[in-house]
Formats: sequence, structure tokens, C-alpha cells
Amino acid sequence: MCCCIEFNEMRARYLHLGLLLLCLSVSAQTDSAPHLERRGTAVQLMVNGKPFLILGAEIHNSSSSSLDYMKPIWPRLAAIPLNTVLTPLSWELIEPEEGKYDFALVDGLIQQARESNLHVVFLWLASWKNGMSSYAPLWLKRDTRRFPRVEENGNEVEILSTLGRATMDADSRAFAATLRHIRELDGQNHTVLMMQVENEVGVLGNTRDHSAAADKAFASAVPPELTSHLRKHHDTLYPDLRELWDSNGAKTSGTWTEVFGNTPRADEIFMAWNYGRYVNHVAASGKAEYSLPMYVNTWLAGEDATPGVYPSGGPQPRVIDVWKAAGSAIDIYSPDIYAPNFAEWCDRYHRAGNPLFIPEAAGGATGEANAFYALGEHDAICFSPFGIDSWNDQKNDLGNSYEVLAQLTPLILQHQGADETTGFVLDKSHPSVSRVMNGYLLFISLDEIFGSSADKGFGLIVATGPNEFVGAGRGFRVKFEPRSAGPAHAGIGYVEEGKFASTVWTPGRRLNGDENDQGQYWRFAPQTTSIEKVVVYRFE
Ligand code: DGJ
Repeated sequence: MCCCIEFNEMRARYLHLGLLLLCLSVSAQTDSAPHLERRGTAVQLMVNGKPFLILGAEIHNSSSSSLDYMKPIWPRLAAIPLNTVLTPLSWELIEPEEGKYDFALVDGLIQQARESNLHVVFLWLASWKNGMSSYAPLWLKRDTRRFPRVEENGNEVEILSTLGRATMDADSRAFAATLRHIRELDGQNHTVLMMQVENEVGVLGNTRDHSAAADKAFASAVPPELTSHLRKHHDTLYPDLRELWDSNGAKTSGTWTEVFGNTPRADEIFMAWNYGRYVNHVAASGKAEYSLPMYVNTWLAGEDATPGVYPSGGPQPRVIDVWKAAGSAIDIYSPDIYAPNFAEWCDRYHRAGNPLFIPEAAGGATGEANAFYALGEHDAICFSPFGIDSWNDQKNDLGNSYEVLAQLTPLILQHQGADETTGFVLDKSHPSVSRVMNGYLLFISLDEIFGSSADKGFGLIVATGPNEFVGAGRGFRVKFEPRSAGPAHAGIGYVEEGKFASTVWTPGRRLNGDENDQGQYWRFAPQTTSIEKVVVYRFE
């Protein structure tokens, strides 16, 4: 008996201790900074211990330089509804005098974001913005000896050189001070989720920097860290880079032209290495103070364009491996996708462990559709069209999409990384796609009923359970065919429209008439963006 009491007491104590430890570990997790975590094949942004999907938008470059200007904008953005605003922070306003930091803007922006219940991703517009150096502080711009410029055709241009050690150190110091300040202010609240380091870097106007320091470095040996990285990761290198290196003999030593050939491609790789070294140094200095996830964004090259027409050395897909060799403080390489071949760019960036994070994109009806594609097909962490604060009607296409995507977010996050989600955009030139999910082939095509067919369609489908799918979007229909053992045919049991609150589904109408073409198709009419659940069954 006595033994039993002791045993029970001991058990109770252990239980108590266990609970305490559990609480501590949960709270430790909750307090940890936003960070990235792998889930299956996906990478998720963890905020307060839970995965988070950024349904965002970026404001214009200079809007956040004035708190008064921003004041009425936040509630309008929250009403769209966004959950995160990509917000520029310029070095010139943070360090107007060398060594004297002014964080009033950082404090004010965080405060304003909190009042509207929004998160923020800060864009560090410092040494470079769209290749140029316009947002560097004036004291630094004036001192071209200490802070050297890129030279093109014998002239200095208004682009800071990557080879200016003092410039890199000054930028890194300011970034580190900013991250320290953000940690002190926000380390427990996590209003600030991530940092973009610089903006669309690369040399414009020429294939590379031709300053004396750059010419000397270009005529010297390729650093062994780069060639050993290429050798180690040979099989997963971006095919373009692998082919270039192989076709020049896959050399592990030599000058830049010896290793990469005497073409503008060698210049671009040289610049990518130097921007990679510099930007990774800035990012690492910030992370040492507050380890938020960090990404760089890319002004995408037009097909067949020469480096210098677009910023040469920025993280184009074919030089991301060079950036990776140059450092590891950058977590994500991101595309700014304004081009119409959105899906191709997603493929080019969502590879070799690089998650898809889209900080800038076209908005309007295009953005409305592409958000579904990026999140459904590529496990994207973020979708964010550019220039949201000047859109006249913000309760528009993007708002319709985001309202639906916000409802689906817990479901998407739960099924990411396991081949259980898909996304698609359809039009007359690309009217259908097929996907195999959950033991079925889904033939997804532009919606059609009684001889009238949609011009455009987009959507996202999640396989939520055996024989069950949740979908959202508009202008498409789905036919099911079995792709697993069992009866030969698949039929639609029933379709219901509805809404999600967290993961709880509240059904609305049962759609088993014209709305699903009398059981022939799972349909999403072209007029509105809706959410529907379908239950499929098998028969001989
Ligand atoms: C890309 C830049 O990154 C943005 O800051 C902005 O200037 C847009 N282009 C404008 O389209």
C-alpha cells in the first residue's frame, strides 16, 4: 500500500515535472525568432512555433520613409486582407551621419503595423537598389575614395563597387545595428518576420566592374572555395552553369576566363561571386544580432539578354550556385516575377533546396491567379505583388484571392511538402493540366457548361483524405479517374460549397445539379472565387 502511494506520488511528481518541461519547451519554441523549417519537400516559415504563409504585398520604394504618409495606408492594407507588408527601410535614413543611428522609422513602422495587426518583412535598401546606389547615405556617396564605385569605360558610375571593403563594413555595421534594434524591440512579438538584404543587385550598363581593383581580381585565380563548391555539387548545379563549367573542362584552378571561358558569362559569374561575398557578409552581420530568415531578390534577365542590360551578378538562376559558394547567410534566392512566363520562373527558383518566396510580382487579375499557382504548386512561403499602396481599388482581385487563401492557409500548411497540394492557371492557350493525387488522376480544364466555356481559370486543390479533396478558385472543372487498385471508375459522390474557420469546415449549399454538371464534373464557375469540397467514390 505504502509502496503504491509512493509510486503514485512519484508518478504525479514526474507528470508535473514533465508538464513543466513541456510548457518550458513550448514557450521556448514560442519565443524563438521566426525561422525556416523543412517539412517533407517543403520549407516553412515558423512564427511563434507555427507555420506561417505570407499573403503579402510590397509598398512603393519610398512610402515607408514617412510615418505620416504610411499612417492611413496600414488599415487599408489590412482590409484587403494582407497578413504581411513588405516594407522598405533605407540605410540613408537610419544612418544619416556616420556612426549615428536613428531608429525612429523602425519603431514607428513596427508600431503602426501592430496597430493594424499586420506583420512586416523589412527590405534593407542600402548599398544597392535596382543595381544603383541611390539609397546609400550621402556622407558615403560623397567619399568616393573610401567607398569606391564601379568603373565603366574609364568612368566611375553611381554604383558602389563590391570590392570596397570599407563600404561592405559600413553597410554591415548599419545592418547589424538595425537587427540589434529590431531584436530589442520585437524579439518577443515577432511583428518582423524576415529581412530582404539589398534590392536587385548587379552591375548595370556593363557586364562587370572595370575598376582597377576589379580588373586585378578578374585577372587572378578563381577562389578555390568556388571551384570546390562546383565540384562537390556538380550533379545538382543549375544545368546552364554545369554545362558552361564542363564545356570549359571543369577546371578547378585558373583565372575567371580560363575556368569559365572568355565571354560575358565569365564576367557575370565573377560579379555574382563578388556580390555574393558582400551581401552574405552583410546578412551574416545582421544575423549575428538577430537571426531572422534572410533573402535576396532578383531583377530577372530577359531571355537572351546580355548581363549589364539586367543587373550583372544578381542571383539569376544560373548563378545561384555561385552565390551559395560565396556564403551561407542568405536563406532564400527570390525572383521578382513581372514576366508572363510566371510558371517557368517558379520552376527555375524552386529547386535544389531553394524554397519559393516571391517578394515582387504583377498584381491585379494576373496576381490573383498566380498566387494560387505559387502556393498550390510550389509550396511558396510568400506571394507579394508590388506597389500595393497605389492600387486604387484595393478590395479587388487580390483581396478576393487572399480572403479565400487565408481560409485555406491552415489546410495548405498541413499538407505542404507531401504531394498533397496542386495549383494551376489556365487559359485558351493552356486549357488543361493533369495531376495525380490521392490515388486519382485529376484532369483539370477550363470550365464549360451548356456550350459556354471560361476564358481563364485558376485554382488550388488539396487532397484532404481518402476520396476527399478541397479546392478553391474559379473557371475550371475537374474529372476524376482512378489511379490505384480497386473498381475501375470514379464518380462524384457529392460537392458542397463552404467556408473554413481555422480547419473547421462549415458547408453551405450542396451542389449536385448544374453546379457539378449533374455529377459529371467538380466545377468552379468563372464568376466568383469559391471554396468547395468534393467526395469521390469508385464503381465497376
Ligand atoms: C523592381 C524593384 O525591386 C522595385 O523596388 C521597384 O522599383 C519595381 N521594380 C518597380 O516595378
